[in-house]
Amino acid sequence: MDLYWLEQIETCVPQANGWLSPGEAAHLAGLRYAVRHNSWRLGRWTAKLAVASYLHLSHSFPALAKIEVRPAPSGAPEVFFENQLAPLTISLSHREDRAICVVAPAAVELGCDLELIEPHSDAFIADYFVTEEQALVARQPVADRPRFLALLWSAKESALKALRTGLRLDTRCVIVDLLSPPAASGWGELQVRYAEGKIFHGWWQVADGMVRTVVAAPPPGPPIPLETTARTPDGPPCNHDPRRFLETHDLCRATYGIAQWPIRL
Ligand SMILES: CC(C)(COP(=O)(O)OP(=O)(O)OC[C@H]1O[C@@H](n2cnc3c(N)ncnc32)[C@H](O)[C@@H]1OP(=O)(O)O)[C@@H](O)C(=O)NCCC(=O)NCCS
Repeated sequence: MDLYWLEQIETCVPQANGWLSPGEAAHLAGLRYAVRHNSWRLGRWTAKLAVASYLHLSHSFPALAKIEVRPAPSGAPEVFFENQLAPLTISLSHREDRAICVVAPAAVELGCDLELIEPHSDAFIADYFVTEEQALVARQPVADRPRFLALLWSAKESALKALRTGLRLDTRCVIVDLLSPPAASGWGELQVRYAEGKIFHGWWQVADGMVRTVVAAPPPGPPIPLETTARTPDGPPCNHDPRRFLETHDLCRATYGIAQWPIRL
């Protein structure tokens, strides 16, 4: 199953709001806190660009305004095009100045997550991970534990989004197995086990101080980067595939280098 992926940073988001639908503009006006306001705009910008690219639509403001990303009662995002449910599934995540959106055919169970690598307490490990995950964490060198934990946590969140429950479900109901380190595609393989033998297959990547994970059922191929014609204010294209930046922007090498990190599986 083909899975498409787009990453954007906040500086890519236009100042004007002409790319939002009237309903989205009204929702934005109701967001009182600047952090949520910016994060929501970044998420919607990323999702609409991803959907437009996936459906081969124009990236003009009027075209993007016809795409509306609405929350289902669960909170999961659903895409409408000219008020009709679009034949696709998306998942999105926004953190700090960055957002990702993954797109797959309709009816795919899909979840993605972007997680900042930061220290966590022992209580966090004890409360949110099962014994076998805790043992895996303990096998990692101390310096690698924050990104390892970010990776496990992110994979759990991706699976909980694919189940459309989010954190309403105990994070210990989904158990992460890291299957391989990143390959030539830039993505490592993972799976997340859920009750009654259900398994989500997925991919992970660490770059730029953040972990990205995506899971789906049926099993997806490695994420395919989506093309966008949107540009940042200083010129470069707005598709932040870290590998592509590595190839084409030497100056970005230090920032966007992908970690080939020797995890202990
Ligand atoms: C889904 C959830 C785990 C994501 O949390 P997060 O890591 O802070 O945020 P992320 O940026 O990674 O993901 C946010 C996106 O997840 C999506 N999302 C929200 N609820 C979702 C659900 N039940 N299933 C799938 N996707 C969901 C939304 O698109 C959301 O972005 P948006 O609000 O801008 O549309 C969390 O919001 C959650 O558990 N929500 C459901 C339960 C709930 O509402 N609890 C109240 C707070 S505990």
